[in-house]
Amino acid sequence: MTKFLDLYSLPPLLQTLQLVADPITFLDRCARRFGDTFSTRVLGWNSPPVVFFSAPAAIAEIFTTQADCLALGRVTHPFRPLVGELSLIMQEGKPHQRQRQLLMPSLHGDRMKFYGSTICTLTRTEIAHWQPGMALSIRPIVSAISLQVILRVVFGLAPGQRYEHLKQHLSELLEAITAPLYSSQFFFPQLQCNLGRWSPWGRFLDKREQIDRLIAAEIGDRRQCSEMTRGDVLELLLTAQDESGEAMSDTELRDQLMTLLLLGHETTASALTWAFYWIHQQPPVEARLRQELEQAETPEAIAQLPWLDAVCKETLRIYPIALIAQPRVVRKPVQIEGRLYKPGEVLVPCIYTAHRRAATYPNPDQFRPERFLQKKMSPYEFFPFGGGSRSCIGAAFSLYEMKLVLATILQTYRLAPAHTTPVRPMRRGITFVPSDNFRLRVVA
Ligand code: HEM
Repeated sequence: MTKFLDLYSLPPLLQTLQLVADPITFLDRCARRFGDTFSTRVLGWNSPPVVFFSAPAAIAEIFTTQADCLALGRVTHPFRPLVGELSLIMQEGKPHQRQRQLLMPSLHGDRMKFYGSTICTLTRTEIAHWQPGMALSIRPIVSAISLQVILRVVFGLAPGQRYEHLKQHLSELLEAITAPLYSSQFFFPQLQCNLGRWSPWGRFLDKREQIDRLIAAEIGDRRQCSEMTRGDVLELLLTAQDESGEAMSDTELRDQLMTLLLLGHETTASALTWAFYWIHQQPPVEARLRQELEQAETPEAIAQLPWLDAVCKETLRIYPIALIAQPRVVRKPVQIEGRLYKPGEVLVPCIYTAHRRAATYPNPDQFRPERFLQKKMSPYEFFPFGGGSRSCIGAAFSLYEMKLVLATILQTYRLAPAHTTPVRPMRRGITFVPSDNFRLRVVA
């Protein structure tokens, strides 16, 4: 039976504050002290037991075998004003499955070949002005690339006025929601009062309206267009039908586009920032990568490179962009690893602690991509994209994008670390990124 201890000795509010203030330290401490499974009270005063899991057997049970006894928590609900009522992440049960079926094909398999050259071209354009000696803050650069990838590949926008306007409005909105004060209004509905353009909520509504108008115009134009030859995600969604032959409405399309933008932009940019950090922390990792990249020119060849694949996976292991997968609320009594959990308790598949588990990953604090070449990890040992019925639908797409952006930049320039103080993980919106002092210098 799994070793099980809990933290009830600490008052619930203190546990909550510790988790909110510094989740990585909180999780590290709990895992060190209590092992693979630990129970907390991190939902405020009257918190039910919130149990974190990291052992592969327990994760497998939560994601698959016991899924019927568990309901998904409503953690995504604060995003409702951004992504809309009809967004995939607001749906449950059958409607959720239907939308996943409609969206998935556009982000998988052969479709990706259509996006490869656009990703590489956008990256080349964004970095064309770099000069030897320049010090670069990587996060805003890869963030700009990833936003444009979404606009071109997902929204299918051609460069022009609408593209530029949407880019500007969206980057302003996405930047604003990473600020703690601005983002708190999504979590506390009491703050959602429109006191005109000078109030934070008024500003948000105003920006959203401008964005919605641009998206509606694009959807309108695309519906008029009889030829569907562009191959972007919006085109696929316009033509997609579920099993009963039903297509998406304009509102549904808008909501899905905003969802893909919200969940696909910052996440991929954060992962890329970490990849640049780790590659340039470890000269042998970089040297092997550069050697491998010499043999690959096309996007398809780049996507197949084993060391690049291992580097991306190790990046997502050591600091997973989301620390946890969606919490599950127990609906019917359920046994996991021989222990009984009662209705109302909350079960959390903890990506961070699972990825730092020494039994799965020896020397877990070290960045060692070779571990992914030596052993094929199961989806319960390595799950940066979550698992089960709500796993990330952009997993294949974001890995593909990461590889192409990394390869394009490394094939064009040599970079070296330029920060003078240690880089630490820092919260940014819903992700953790290298702290703002992280810099690389263009060497050649
Ligand atoms: C490195 C990049 C990314 C990471 C680390 C990541 C991670 C995640 C995680 C952990 C979840 C929750 C899974 C769960 O609870 O089991 C998720 C859900 C989701 N992700 Fe991603 N993601 C990334 C990129 C993307 C991209 C590029 C897109 C789309 C273009 C995307 C779209 C979504 C959507 C729509 C969901 C919700 C799925 C549902 O509720 O059914 N993600 N992602």
